[in-house]
Amino acid sequence: MEREKCCERMTSVTFRLLRKADEPELKTLLKEQLFDVPSYMLALLNNTMCHVVWAAVGLLCGFASHSVLFGLSALFLTPFLVFAVLSVGFKLSIDKYLNDIQTGVYDYWTTENRALWVAVYGGHIVGSTAICKKDDRSAEIQRVVTDVRMRGKGIARRLLRMASKGAKDMGVRTLTLHTSHPLKAAITLYRSEGFQQISETKVFGGLLTVFGFTKQIDDFG
Ligand SMILES: CC(C)(COP(=O)(O)OP(=O)(O)OC[C@H]1O[C@@H](n2cnc3c(N)ncnc32)[C@H](O)[C@@H]1OP(=O)(O)O)[C@@H](O)C(=O)NCCC(=O)NCCS
Repeated sequence: MEREKCCERMTSVTFRLLRKADEPELKTLLKEQLFDVPSYMLALLNNTMCHVVWAAVGLLCGFASHSVLFGLSALFLTPFLVFAVLSVGFKLSIDKYLNDIQTGVYDYWTTENRALWVAVYGGHIVGSTAICKKDDRSAEIQRVVTDVRMRGKGIARRLLRMASKGAKDMGVRTLTLHTSHPLKAAITLYRSEGFQQISETKVFGGLLTVFGFTKQIDDFG
């Protein structure tokens, strides 16, 4: 039933391993959409610590200028300013984090221990999922992303299953992955594909929670 629903939703999307010619489009997709910046920023701004900080900024501005209006303006503008500054900083740090973008996506993902699958629609790359072998028996799922215009059609689920099958063919017994609390869609997807949460780590002073998930090869559907 699930499989039928998947196929019905994307008859014209094809799935295959990465090719050299995919490199420019894949680079753009990873760079622009792998990190869901708005979700990260909203989760950050929705944190109690941030509420306290910008309430303090509002009050300080109000007292310093002896103007309620100025204080209120500062109170409402601070989140937008913080959002803008953090978004720019986040975007700038993404390139540094993605070492495949630095070295060349194709070369990076076509080694003995790594593989990346793409979804293609209308001749364009609209999704990706990769595996990176950590040792003889385990591999990490990485680079899970679907183009924002193609989400909700079952593309990531299909890619995840291809990557799982690919890992199995490589002799892998255990799949692992990491995600974080703002990425609700990804968390729902991983749980629905049978991944189980095994760790929870607070980073950046508790602003972000990183989850570790795992799935045994025997569970593959
Ligand atoms: C997470 C992501 C890859 C999902 O891609 P997708 O192709 O839209 O996902 P699918 O259509 O295959 O959905 C599969 C399942 O994921 C879950 N899901 C997808 N979108 C969801 C949403 N917006 N909210 C909640 N669950 C969602 C559902 O369980 C869905 O199954 P269903 O349609 O049968 O209910 C996509 O939202 C994305 O690219 N996000 C930004 C990058 C990212 O966060 N990557 C993960 C890094 S760890």
